[in-house]
Amino acid sequence: NWTMENFIDLEVEKIRSNVGDRRVLCALSGGVDSSVTAMLVHRAIGDQLTCMFIDHGLLRKNEGARVMKMFEGKFDINVIKIDAAERFLTKLEGVSDPEQKRKIIGNEFIYIFEEESSKLENVDFLAQGTLYTDVIESGTATAETIKSHHNVGGLPEDMKLDLIEPLNTLFKDEVRELGTELGLPESFVWRQPFPGPGLGIRVLGEITPEKLEIVRESDAVLHDVLEKDGLDKEIWQFFTALPDMRSVGVMGDNRTYDYTVGVRAVTSTDGMTSDWARIPHEVLERISTRIVNEVPRVNRVVYDITSKPPSTIEWE
Ligand code: XMP
Repeated sequence: NWTMENFIDLEVEKIRSNVGDRRVLCALSGGVDSSVTAMLVHRAIGDQLTCMFIDHGLLRKNEGARVMKMFEGKFDINVIKIDAAERFLTKLEGVSDPEQKRKIIGNEFIYIFEEESSKLENVDFLAQGTLYTDVIESGTATAETIKSHHNVGGLPEDMKLDLIEPLNTLFKDEVRELGTELGLPESFVWRQPFPGPGLGIRVLGEITPEKLEIVRESDAVLHDVLEKDGLDKEIWQFFTALPDMRSVGVMGDNRTYDYTVGVRAVTSTDGMTSDWARIPHEVLERISTRIVNEVPRVNRVVYDITSKPPSTIEWE
C-alpha cells in the first residue's frame, strides 16, 4: 500500500543506487517543487548534492537570505548562491515588452546556470522538481502557450547531465505532504506561486532599479499587513504591481506627481482561473495607508477587482 513514508524510502533507495558516489546538481529557486526535490535528494545522498540558487535581482524582499538561511543554515545543504542582479538588469535595459522580458530573463537564467555549473567538477546528474502535471501538460496547449512560462522545459539541450526527477509521479498536494514529511517548514511548504521572471513582470514596461525597489517594498508591506490580519493563508496569491504611470496627488501643501501601486490578491485552486479576494475594506485601507506612508514615490494605491478570465493573475 502506498504511503508517503514508503515513497520516501523507495525514492531514497532509487536515488542512491542511481547516483552511487557521483555528484548531483539541483537548481534551487526556493519554490515548493525545487525545495522538496533538494530535501529528498539530500536525504538520499547528503553532501553529494550541490544546489545552485541564482539571484536575478528580481526576487521579493529578503528572499535570497531566507532561502540561504533555510537550506544552508538549517538543513546544512550545500548551496552556491550566484548574485546576478547587475547582469539581468543590464540585459533588460530599454526592454518593455512583457514576452521579450520573459525571454531575456529565462535565457539569461539558463546561460548563467550553464556557465556556473560547468565550473563544478564531477557533476553527473541534474535534479529537477518536475511534477506529474508538468509531465502531462508539456506538449499540450496550456498556459505555456499564453505566456511563455520558463520554468518548465527550459533545460539546456546539450547539457550532458542525467536527469533525476523524483517528483514526476506526484501532484502538488502530494509534494506538499512530502515536504512536510521531510521536515520542510510550513512557510516553505505552503508558499505562494512566484513567477520565474519574478518582479521583472510586476514592474510594467521598462525595468529600472527605482521601480524594482518600489514594487519590492510595497509587496513586503502588503505581505506584512495580510499576515498580521491572518488573511495570508486564505488568499491563493497576492502581490503588488507597478503600472508604468504616475498621477497627481497632494502631500501637505505640495502637489505630488508620483507612482500608482496596484494590489492584486486572488483566490484560485490551480491558477488557471481565479477570482479577486474579498479583502475587508478596513484591511484594504491599512494596506493603502501603509504603502503610501512607507514606500517613497507612491501617492496612490488601487485594488484589482477583475477575475481570470478575462484578466490574468499577473499584470504582464
Ligand atoms: P497568469 O498571469 O497567467 O498566471 O494568470 C497564472 C500563474 O502563473 C504564474 N506566472 C508565471 N510563472 N513564469 C512562471 O514561472 C511566468 O512567466 C509566469 N507568468 C505567470 C502566476 O504568478 C500565476 O501563479
